[in-house]
Amino acid sequence: MASVTSLSDSVQQHLASALSATLPEAAGADPLLRRSDRADFQANGILALAKKAKANPRELATQVVSQVVTGDELIKDVEVSGPGFLNITIADRAITGNLAARYADETGRLGVPTAAQPGTTVIDYAQPNVAKEMHVGHLRSAVIGDSVVQLLEFTGENVVRRHHIGDWGTQFGMLIQYLDEHPHELDHKEAQVTGEEAMSNLDRLYKAARKLFDSDEEFKTRARRRVVDLQAGDPQTLAMWQKFVDESKIYFFSVFEKLDMEIQDADIVGESGYNDMLAETCRLLEESGVAVRSEGALCVFFDDIKGPDGNPVPLIVQKSDGGYGYAATDLSAIRDRVFHLKANTLLYVVDARQALHFKMVFETARRAGWLNEDVTAFQLAFGTVLGKDGKPFKTREGETVRLVDLLDEAIDRASAVVREKAQDLSEEEIAERGAQVGIGAVKYADLSTSANRDYKFDLDQMVSLNGDTSVYLQYAYARIRSILRKAGETRPAAHPALALTEAERALGLHVDAFAETVAEAAGEYAPHKLAAYLYQLASLYTSFYDKCPVLKAETPAQVENRLFLCDITARTLHQGMALLGIRTPEKL
Ligand code: ARG
Repeated sequence: MASVTSLSDSVQQHLASALSATLPEAAGADPLLRRSDRADFQANGILALAKKAKANPRELATQVVSQVVTGDELIKDVEVSGPGFLNITIADRAITGNLAARYADETGRLGVPTAAQPGTTVIDYAQPNVAKEMHVGHLRSAVIGDSVVQLLEFTGENVVRRHHIGDWGTQFGMLIQYLDEHPHELDHKEAQVTGEEAMSNLDRLYKAARKLFDSDEEFKTRARRRVVDLQAGDPQTLAMWQKFVDESKIYFFSVFEKLDMEIQDADIVGESGYNDMLAETCRLLEESGVAVRSEGALCVFFDDIKGPDGNPVPLIVQKSDGGYGYAATDLSAIRDRVFHLKANTLLYVVDARQALHFKMVFETARRAGWLNEDVTAFQLAFGTVLGKDGKPFKTREGETVRLVDLLDEAIDRASAVVREKAQDLSEEEIAERGAQVGIGAVKYADLSTSANRDYKFDLDQMVSLNGDTSVYLQYAYARIRSILRKAGETRPAAHPALALTEAERALGLHVDAFAETVAEAAGEYAPHKLAAYLYQLASLYTSFYDKCPVLKAETPAQVENRLFLCDITARTLHQGMALLGIRTPEKL
């Protein structure tokens, strides 16, 4: 036993067969089932079907109702309402029974099914740039990407992660030449270099190199020659470049660790990783006529993409000096992901401001035949992180905000909140929970708005205990865990024969809808739908808890059944939060 059919799917199937028994030509039609305020579910599909069959919708609905088996198996009651809707009430026994089946799923997946024929998705996310600090703009790709990875894997999809870091290009000539002339600048006294130290080394080096580059013509010439050496694969130049990459990775890993995110070295395949493919990519595009020479550069033109002067803006695959840029790399990466990694779907979690680039790259790949109906590419474009003033987030001095500073501040604020509420927590626990709450707050604020929208980075709101925040969800979870601890010897147990109160039914029906929420959020790459579901789950739990005494319920069976509702809610919260990359501490 693993996968459990959700109540809504069961009702859906039931109605579909009642419908086709009444109206054979409606076989396979969707009864359009929705959760409803009037009853548990409402089915609206009969209206359109009646219209098509030129029948009276109320009459048709009445006939369908007469075909529906009611009882305490599944549908307790069904009635026609309005112009021909069906209002459906689920039997209490069915609610408890279905939840009990989920609870018994020994895989811990709460009965959520996995895809029968999963595909392979290559997801490009968390792609900072070598020798540069990570800023607030790198937050969203990492957080959204990580959640989409979890969601897809949970549905059974084969997921290949690709961190397309910026580790190639002209600035490396400058850095390498400088390091060559100042060989001891990256030496470390201690063997263990921390992330921040690695970054400050790089930062110092970058500034010094830049200064020399701007002031010394001869250095500039030497630096330019180095780029050519690098791209030609000169071993000494490559070895030095490797030093920069390694140093940057120490720093990236430290930031990802702070973000409580697992990144594998093998998945970091930066721009440099496609260097060997660039010439071939250009050749293929030119030979097939997809790209043409224009003023020496290799370009792809599009009818619908024009600059402000009305002239077409091409995608430049190779510059007139023979150099390759961002587009050539991305086109080569597509070939690698399609033909080598055998992807069905390419997903790019990248800033919306790169939408034109991806539009052109995808269209080029389609013309070349690398993308088609079976292999598709999609940019999961995200909006900008704004300051409280509604403008792109900057420091008071007008500089880009360093991601690490922002995370540290969130952790500080959250630790203060945890400390204030803490009852039986040690200092060590406060620090640990502070990090889990702070990072959770940052992630949740990002994930609870739909990715394509901008959002305001407002720490006060993010760590608030009230409202749609991760802290609210984490407290709900911790409260449930505390009740379960208090229950001691009394174990949660489902009693399907018990009648349920309104609050219990609402909570139970919502818990049961976890599977379809996950399927929807994964299918649409929309973690915000899962976030909204979890927030509602916590709210429904709160009203259940306000109205229904748990440990002091009337009968022992009721105590057990309510503990069971508590526990399955906790498990669902825990699983759902994990899919968002957020921890649920046992105590807060
Ligand atoms: N490194 C780039 C940046 O910081 C993002 C890379 C996005 N991925 C890609 N395949 N182009 O803007």
